[in-house]
Formats: sequence, C-alpha cells, structure tokens
Amino acid sequence: MKILVTGGAGFIGSNYVYQVLHRHPEDEVVVLDALTYAGNLENLKQLERDPRFRFVKGDICDAALVDDLVKGVDAVVHFAAESHVDRSIMDPGVFVRTNIIGTQTLLDACRRNGNVRFHHVSTDEVFGSLGATGLFSEQTPYDPRSPYSASKAGSDHLVRAAWHTYGLPVTISNCSNNYGPYQHPEKLIPLFITNLIEGKTVPLYGDGMNVRDWIHVEDHCEGVDLVLRKGTIGETYLFGGRSERSNAEITNLILFEMGAGQGKIERVADRLGHDRRYAIDPSRAERELGWSPKTPFLHGLRKTIAWYTSNEAWWRNVKSGAYREYYEKQYGSRPTPGVSR
Ligand code: NAD
Ligand code: DAU
Repeated sequence: MKILVTGGAGFIGSNYVYQVLHRHPEDEVVVLDALTYAGNLENLKQLERDPRFRFVKGDICDAALVDDLVKGVDAVVHFAAESHVDRSIMDPGVFVRTNIIGTQTLLDACRRNGNVRFHHVSTDEVFGSLGATGLFSEQTPYDPRSPYSASKAGSDHLVRAAWHTYGLPVTISNCSNNYGPYQHPEKLIPLFITNLIEGKTVPLYGDGMNVRDWIHVEDHCEGVDLVLRKGTIGETYLFGGRSERSNAEITNLILFEMGAGQGKIERVADRLGHDRRYAIDPSRAERELGWSPKTPFLHGLRKTIAWYTSNEAWWRNVKSGAYREYYEKQYGSRPTPGVSR
C-alpha cells in the first residue's frame, strides 16, 4: 500500500511511519509536513536513505499540493494538526486553520481523486470532561471545551460528513494521552523529564488531580494501522491505555524514577477551562480489531525516561530558540498559588 501520512514529522506521526515500514515492508510512505515548531525532520532521520520513504515539506491547507500528492496514493492517514491545548488557549486561530480547513482540504482532494481511503486521527478531548466515574465510548456525545478540542471536533464532523454525503471511505479514531519517544517537551511527561534533567522545577497545574488515560505511542500507532486495514468504513474506534492516572501521580512517579525530591514540584495556576478527567472504554477496538494496549504504564514510562536521557541533543535542540519564548509566555508570568511575584 502507498500511504500519504500528514504530520509525519511530529510525535505520533513519526512513530507511525517507523512502525508501518517495519510491519509492512512492502508499503511506501510519503510524509507531508509543514515543519511547524512541532515538526522535526530529525524524527525521521533513520529513513533518510530508505527508498520506500519520501518527505514533502508543505501545508495541508495548500489545495494544489495536496491534490498532487493524493493522486499517487492508496490511502491518507491524517495526523497533521496543531496539538497543544495551552497554545490553543493563547492563540486559537491557527488551530481553526490547520485542524478544520486543513482537514477539509485533504477530504476534498481524496474525493476529487477517485475517493481515496482516508483515516482521521483524533482525540478523546472531543467528548469533554468526565466526572469521577464513567468512560468515553463510541456513543458518547461530543462536548469539546477548549479551542483545541473544538477544532478537532469540527474536523471529526467534516470527516463524517464526507462519508455520509459523498460516500468517501473514511474511518476515525479517537485516542487518549500518548507518551513515548519524540514527543515535544511542551507536553506533561517530556516536559517534566527534561526539566528534571536540566535541574529545573516541574510546573504542576492547579490541584494536580486532573486525570488522563495514558497510552504508549506504539500501542496507539498499532491501533491506527489496524483501523486502516481492518476497520469498517464510516466507523469510529476509540483507543486508550486502560491506565488512568492523576497528574500528581504521574509527577510523583517521574520524580521517584529520576531520584528527585518533592521540592522539585512547583504548583502553578490552573489551565483555563481545565478538563477534569478523561478515560476510554476501548472494548470495541479490542473486540473488532483484536487490538489491545500492550505496554504497562510503568514499563513505558521507564523506557521514555531512558529515551530522553539518552537523546539529550534531540530535546535540547527542540527546547532552544523559539520554544524558550513560548515557555516564558506560558510559565514565566503564571502566578504560583499562594505566592506573589
Ligand atoms: P505534534 O504536534 O507532535 O505533531 C503535529 C505535526 O503536524 C507536526 O509535525 C507539524 O509540523 C505538523 N503540522 C502542523 N500544522 C501543519 C500543516 N498546516 N500542514 C502540514 N503539517 C502540519 O502532534 P502529535 O501529538 O503527534 O499528534 C498527532 C495527531 O494525533 C493530532 O491530530 C492530534 O490531535 C492527535 N492526537 C494526539 C494525542 C496525543 O496525546 N499527543 C492523542 C490523541 C490524538
Ligand atoms: O487526551 C488526548 C490529548 O492529550 C491530545 O489530543 C493532545 O494533542 C495532547 O496534547 C494531550 O492533551 P493534554 O492537554 O491532556 O496533554 P498535556 O501533556 O498538555 O497535559 C496533560 C495534563 O497535565 C493536563 O491535565 C494538564 C497537565 N499539565 C500539563 C503541562 C504541560 C500540567 O500540570 N503542567 C504542565 O506544564
């Protein structure tokens, strides 16, 4: 199969490209990525000389380019997005452009070129926030609450509309919080690991009791690939790690594994509109695709700490330059509860 992978220079996209070419040696992959602050060609370095791989730098909103690339492939797997909730709170416009207009641009190209198979990678955040109990399932109504999740919900609806209206062969997957190698250090787990290596504090939002359902990126990528090859057209599949943890619990685990003390925790003001709890019921994917999350959380976390420890050049490069400005904007003036600056 020849696959166009959008956002393949990002965290999950790059892990997906490696996995696909490993599992399906006969496949070919074309990556389309704009190399925003989150995209990094270093993530794909091991494929530089692989004849099955081609990289194209470009924007998913560029209709002519997208049309040209879609013409030559059997399927599109769509990861490209603005992905960070805190950035969406600072500047929602680019999320609307990339996540909504970009997705529609790809759908139009798939339709124009003979109904190319389209898989859309989405998030559990479209379902809003859970109380103390319950799980998201494929039947949960949409209730997005941040600019990021609202833009992803918009893109999901456009993908479903392309199936219902034009019969475009689509599938959607909504996944919980990923962690693993090549994740940008703006996100909780790599931020905290790399801050500790640098001897800095770790900024924990609010009371630290918000809960996320953590899944290793390789398990998510396996799920995406199974949906692409075995999923029922027009359907949605949810992936999660069956591994709910509060942010405080994650923080304590990282501190313990890295031999750091509680004094490294800096309590900072909460994220605006911070969703309290996400958790996934992945039983449909387990039943229908034979998928399951295989990486136990502690094992995956240790592997991830080891990866960031032995790939310092990668994240130091990412954390330098423009990222410094973002970090200062996000955390520099953020009031610490009970402390006046
Ligand atoms: P990421 O931010 O690491 O990577 C996004 C990639 O998209 C980057 O390489 C970036 O350069 C590229 N990109 C951004 N705008 C583009 C544009 N206009 N044109 C072309 N490329 C563009 O994100 P990620 O964490 O790898 O997430 C990938 C996808 O998975 C996203 O759609 C996200 O919503 C979804 N998702 C992420 C998680 C998670 O925990 N990270 C969980 C569920 C779903
Ligand atoms: O649920 C899936 C989503 O998971 C994906 O769709 C998003 O693309 C991905 O970024 C992620 O969103 P979150 O907002 O859950 O991830 P983040 O790593 O930013 O935050 C995880 C939790 O940790 C969240 O409750 C906020 C908290 N947090 C985060 C940061 C960056 C902190 O306490 N301090 C921090 O500095």
